Parts: sequence; C-alpha cells; structure tokens
Amino acid sequence: MFSHERIIVRRGPESGLPIIVAVHSTKLGPALGGCRLKAYGQWQDGLTDALRLSAAMTDKCALAGLPNGGGKTVIVGPATDPGLREAALHDAGTVIEELGGRYATGPDVGTGPDDMVTIGRRTSHVFCRPVGAGGSGDSSPGTAVGTVAALRAVCAARFGSAALAGRCFAVIGLGRVGGRVARLLAEAGAKLVVTDVDPALRPLADELGATWTTPDEALTADVDVVVPAALGGVLTPAVVTALRCAAVAGPANNQLDTPATADLLHARGILWAPDYVVSAGGVISATAVELHHDTPAQVAARLDAIGTTLTTVFTNAERDHITPGAAAHHLSRARVG
Ligand code: PHE
Repeated sequence: MFSHERIIVRRGPESGLPIIVAVHSTKLGPALGGCRLKAYGQWQDGLTDALRLSAAMTDKCALAGLPNGGGKTVIVGPATDPGLREAALHDAGTVIEELGGRYATGPDVGTGPDDMVTIGRRTSHVFCRPVGAGGSGDSSPGTAVGTVAALRAVCAARFGSAALAGRCFAVIGLGRVGGRVARLLAEAGAKLVVTDVDPALRPLADELGATWTTPDEALTADVDVVVPAALGGVLTPAVVTALRCAAVAGPANNQLDTPATADLLHARGILWAPDYVVSAGGVISATAVELHHDTPAQVAARLDAIGTTLTTVFTNAERDHITPGAAAHHLSRARVG
C-alpha cells in the first residue's frame, strides 16, 4: 500500500550523491526523522530504507505522544571524503528547506550533532546541533535513558518485577546508544553479555565487568533479555528459532526482517517490545528541550513515560490476544488514523 505523503529523490547539486527525503505523515504535525548517511549496494536500497524508517517514525512519534509525524532522510554514500560529505549534508539541507517546515531532521546512523550544523547552513529545520551551537546536542543519552525505562517495563511484564539488579542482558552494539545502555544497566546491578562489530570497544566490557562475545553468540545467548542496539533486521525466522532469551527489547530501528516475524516470537513465548516504542527517547528529549523548553525534570518524566506506554502495549496485546507489535500498531492507528 502506498502510504507516504511525499518522497523526494534528488541527485544532490553539490555532491552528485542520491539524496532521499521521505515524508510519511504530517497528520499530527511536522514530520521528524533523522538523517542517515550510509553506503548501500544501490540507491534503491537507500530508498527502501527511507520508506520503512519514515513510516516507523510516524508510529514512534504517535506512541510517544508527540505532536509530530514521521519522515527520514537518507544520503546514499559512501561519502568518506570530508568535502563530499559536507556537500552531501548541504544537499540534504537544501531539500529539507524546500519542504518549508513539513519535515525536520536530526542525527541518525552515520551522522552526529556536528553534521546538524552543516545541514543547518541550508535549513533551520534541524534538531540536535551541539549545545554551543544552539541545539540540544547528542540525542543518544535520551535514547539510552528511554531504553532503560522500557527494559524495566519488559522485566515487569515478563518476570513480575521491574528490578534490573541480577537480571542478565545481552547488549548487541556498544555505540553511542548501546554503550550508554550497557553502562546504565551495569550501574543498576544487571549482569551483562556485550558485543560489537568493532573490537576497539572491547575495553568497555572489561570496565563494566561484562562478558564479551561475538554478535552471533550474543543474539542467541542464554540471558533474560536480548537488547539489539545496532543496525536493524537482526530478527529473522532462523534467529528467532535459535533464541534462548525470554524477551527482546532494544533501541535498534527496524529489528524485524518482516512484520510476520513478530508472530514467530509470540509463538515461541518470547516477549518482543516494538522498537519504535523503545527507541523514542532521542526524539522525545530533543523536542522536549528545543520545542517545549522543558526543565531536566520534565524531560526525565517524558522519558520515563516510555515504560508506561510499553506497559499499555503489553496489556492491550494480552487482552486482545495479539502480538505487542500489532497492539502498538493499533494504538498508533488510533492516534494517526
Ligand atoms: N535518529 C532519531 C530517531 O530515530 C531521529 C531524531 C532525533 C530526529 C532527534 C529528530 C530529533 O528517533
């Protein structure tokens, strides 16, 4: 079904790279969604990613109670040369500016707060510039705090207690978000198995007293909860068959290879927390600070509410005998229409 409001695919005038901006919905308000800069086999793969990720942003904003819709920018790399990278970010800014405020961007895989300054030379519709440049800075701490609130709700639903102490988690990906999640879990007294494709991050495992393993082994580790915190698509039918955990909940976007994989998880009795609920902390904290001018205590309350939302999703799923994925989607449809 064609459900996007507007999709722009443009050869960037400054970079020559494919620039894709997908606006999925502005029904609840201006669309939000980060700018992904990534190498794809072909540009069409970047388009597919943008379409899926922007639709997920609509659900993410709706479930987070934000007056916003969903969108996404994809710059089809590679753009390792600094000059080319800058030109491509300018191109993204130019396209976003043409949308006249219907869509605003922020950081995503492959971009960070400094890149938002570069995009910001072409448009004002950009979140998460560094604090010194007038923005709210890195959104990953907010995403990590929201993820931990979600994990407490998962533990309450699956094990009858929201306590993290003594629970065992496998954190897959120790990047800006995953590394912080692992740290917060360790501080709360959880036991950790951790992994990353980058072996340079291994010292964090030692620092946290965590067991370091390979990404494949972390996925099928004998733990309470697997926490995907890197790229999407990790939950395939084959992986679900091999899982030994009781729940899967993490901030990685688009964890399921296809929506039907949620049914396989459900059939195996594994509780899956919809990723767009778990990962909403970034967009929640950025808009709380930059649009609503919230105090730190108000931001913390908004992030904590992710746990409450997730509990509602799990309760509705049980009541209606459907998967948490379907329950979250129904809640989103009820708000967006
Ligand atoms: N990468 C963020 C997400 O997926 C996107 C974002 C963050 C957009 C902050 C706007 C502001 O939620």
